[in-house]
Amino acid sequence: MQTHEIRKRFTDHFVRNGHTEVPSASLVLNDPNQLFVIAGMVPFVPFFLGQQTPPYQRATSIQKCVRTLDIEEVGITTRHNTFFQMAGNFSFGDYFKRDAIRFAWSLLTGPVDEGGFGIDPDRLWSTVYLDDDEARDLWLEVGQVPEHIQRRGMKDNYWSMGIPGPCGPCSEIFYDRGPEYGAEGGPEADEDRYIEIWNLVFMQNERGKGLGKEKFEILGELPKKNIDTGMGIERVAFLLQGVDNVYETDLLRPVIDRAEELTGKTYGRAADGTDDAERDRLFRVIADHTRTAVMLIEDGVNPGNDGRGYVLRRLLRRVVRSARLLGAPGETIGAFVDTVIATMSPSYPSLADDAQRIRTVAAAEEAAFLKTLEQGTTLFGNAVDSTKAAGKAVLSGDDAFTLHDTYGFPIDLTLEMASEAGLAVDEDGFRALMAEQRQRAKDDSNARKSALADLSVFREFVDRGPTEFTGFDELVSDAQVLGIIVGGQRVPVARQGDDVEIVLDRSPLYAEAGGQLADIGTITTAAGARVVITDVQRVAKTVWRHQGTVAAGEVAEGDTVTVAADPGHRHGSTQGHSGTHLVHAALRQVLGPNAVQAGSLNRPGYLRFDFRWQGGLTEQQRADIEDVTNAAVQADYAVNTEVTDLDSAKKRGAMALFGENYGERVRLVEIGGPFSLELCGGTHVASSGLVGPVTLLGESSVGSGVRRVEAYVGLDAVNYLGRERALVSALSSSLKVPADELPGRVESMVTRLRDAEKELEKLRAQAALTALSELAASPERVGAVRLVADRAPTGVTAGELRGLVTQLKGRLGAEPAVIALFAADGDKVPFVIAANAAAQDLGVRAGDLVKAAAPAVGGRGGGKADLAQGAGTDAAGIDAALAALRGAVASAVGA
Ligand code: ALA
Repeated sequence: MQTHEIRKRFTDHFVRNGHTEVPSASLVLNDPNQLFVIAGMVPFVPFFLGQQTPPYQRATSIQKCVRTLDIEEVGITTRHNTFFQMAGNFSFGDYFKRDAIRFAWSLLTGPVDEGGFGIDPDRLWSTVYLDDDEARDLWLEVGQVPEHIQRRGMKDNYWSMGIPGPCGPCSEIFYDRGPEYGAEGGPEADEDRYIEIWNLVFMQNERGKGLGKEKFEILGELPKKNIDTGMGIERVAFLLQGVDNVYETDLLRPVIDRAEELTGKTYGRAADGTDDAERDRLFRVIADHTRTAVMLIEDGVNPGNDGRGYVLRRLLRRVVRSARLLGAPGETIGAFVDTVIATMSPSYPSLADDAQRIRTVAAAEEAAFLKTLEQGTTLFGNAVDSTKAAGKAVLSGDDAFTLHDTYGFPIDLTLEMASEAGLAVDEDGFRALMAEQRQRAKDDSNARKSALADLSVFREFVDRGPTEFTGFDELVSDAQVLGIIVGGQRVPVARQGDDVEIVLDRSPLYAEAGGQLADIGTITTAAGARVVITDVQRVAKTVWRHQGTVAAGEVAEGDTVTVAADPGHRHGSTQGHSGTHLVHAALRQVLGPNAVQAGSLNRPGYLRFDFRWQGGLTEQQRADIEDVTNAAVQADYAVNTEVTDLDSAKKRGAMALFGENYGERVRLVEIGGPFSLELCGGTHVASSGLVGPVTLLGESSVGSGVRRVEAYVGLDAVNYLGRERALVSALSSSLKVPADELPGRVESMVTRLRDAEKELEKLRAQAALTALSELAASPERVGAVRLVADRAPTGVTAGELRGLVTQLKGRLGAEPAVIALFAADGDKVPFVIAANAAAQDLGVRAGDLVKAAAPAVGGRGGGKADLAQGAGTDAAGIDAALAALRGAVASAVGA
């Protein structure tokens, strides 16, 4: 049975039984406590907790889920996917255990021609929580045999999200693959033979703080008894399709096939007569990870170095690396992405619409990674060599960090490559360096955002409902103070001098989002209190926290207040934000639709825009982007906004359609009809002329495959150009040429300067040689050897030293001679030693002399018998080095 058929039968079964079909939510919800949606119930949490009233009492969904905790298991076990589809049925205070068990059993064992899965009941096993006799009796009631029911403890049969939230005892259903897959004895004995396919959670308690699956407090009963179930679509598919594991189903096998074509290797342990489990694992990793990456990119995740972005980057890089290990030449990810989109889009049609963007994001990451791999592999090789040469078995944390920081090597890749080279890695050292770096990088805004992590004090406000944003229409609004927080604690009143966070029912102040900075402003009361607001941040997307200081008086919960946004600041932000949309549109006009947005930030008078693109822009492209932007300003397009649903927005071709949930209301911002159409919750100018002139400052790389343009907007653009003009006129007056002749003049000056430097270098070398010739005229004698050993004349660089020594050697003729010169070049002490053929015949070797002299200047070196060199760091040791050298020559010739 094909996966799409399994999905359909599941949904039909529950719709027939009175459930409302709810589409999958985005994999990314706005919750800092959860990277990704990990279970079908996640979008329904507020209903279970009784915080919101569900619009239905029974629901069914097939939810996209990502779990990456078990990433190392992928491809090794039969059943670990990082992306999977969880089919679930939910009851919010409606039916409970009896119907949950009945519904599941009838779908699994129901005949195929009546819409069921047709599974032989003999293959099914059930588990119940330790003392849940009720569930056990209900299983017997539907026809399960007592020998196929097992009792299990908290770890297996009590379910929660792993964080505070709803939880409860559960009952799981397992499928017996048969004696050829393991020992008898049910899931207690062997979870590879008995595969868990469905978990029925009797959601009735609330989990508090605590860790893991067993050690947490239970806060009490939920307001109602609920049902949450999860059936793994991919697991049922692999069992019903008679294949060996979740990687070989109709949805993933095509990716493996494609990888076989591209790598020329064969999948399937015995297929080509070899039994190579590791090779099969690589194929499975490619299939699993590509699919997860595609689904994440579709939901708006971009590769990055932190959080969600890092998970995506790691997945993509593991694909690239696996393909390379299988011998794929060059770039392959586009082909894998296309295959995933083809197999998945019947269930997720938006994938096909978005295919080009998804492919671009994945391919950019691959290209960047291949490049860094190449550079980093050299560095890695060196690090391995020096680690081994030093007799160590552990690659240092420093090396791992450089590989990560400079070459983008994920730590797991370094670990993998190190282990291939027979080395371990100092992971603790690496992590300590990473932590230090993060600390350094944490700027103000990050600090603000991470402070959001403890949201508990705001929870009540989130439950109460969103802060109404009045700032699209007015800059001053009346509002009511819903809560005041000082030092993380809820307080009834705040007084002069207090640093506060204030939650209001409504506010004209914009909370930072979508690249637009927060408004600043004031909150005042009729009684004369005044709070200066310096920042506004969102809690859980919906509630604004106004951060600031009480400048005068007292403000209390329940007060009616006047909230005013600073008009100048707002105007600037608005200009910046509309300017960002114009630059984005211009960029896509000039570069085409592959220039995908990867983030933006604007503040009054300034904007920056990041996008995915390989390589730098040409001067011409830059100028074109600026021209198209300013033409749109000049056209003074009307800016229209409209709130609509996601489908209509999509039909109109709005950009940035990701991370939104079906059914969600979205806001469209349109500038000049087709010129620019984006989903955006920010504030904008009334017409594009108000943005004012836009001038690009430049364009640069900000990491793998991501470019950044920066621009000034409005008066700041004019001021910037003014500064440039002043610079040009200063240059033109000091060089005494008209402005348009400046480039020619500067070029000729640079050429002359370069020639002069070369000339100078030549002269200096000649002067040095003259000085040295004097030395060569009266060499010291050490036995039969004539020795010229001294400091090089001041100013001689490491580069020049070798030439000088060679020339001197030439001048000394055929009699035994040794020449040694030490220079002091900055904080380095380079030195070169030469021995001519006659000296070598007497047993003198330049390489040995270098070794003898080096320690005195704190250095090392080596070379051949005729010429050798080294470098130290301690110029004070030169005399001692010369003495050591004389000694070494003497002992070589027996003098
Ligand atoms: N929420 C339950 C699970 O994820 C069904 O297993």
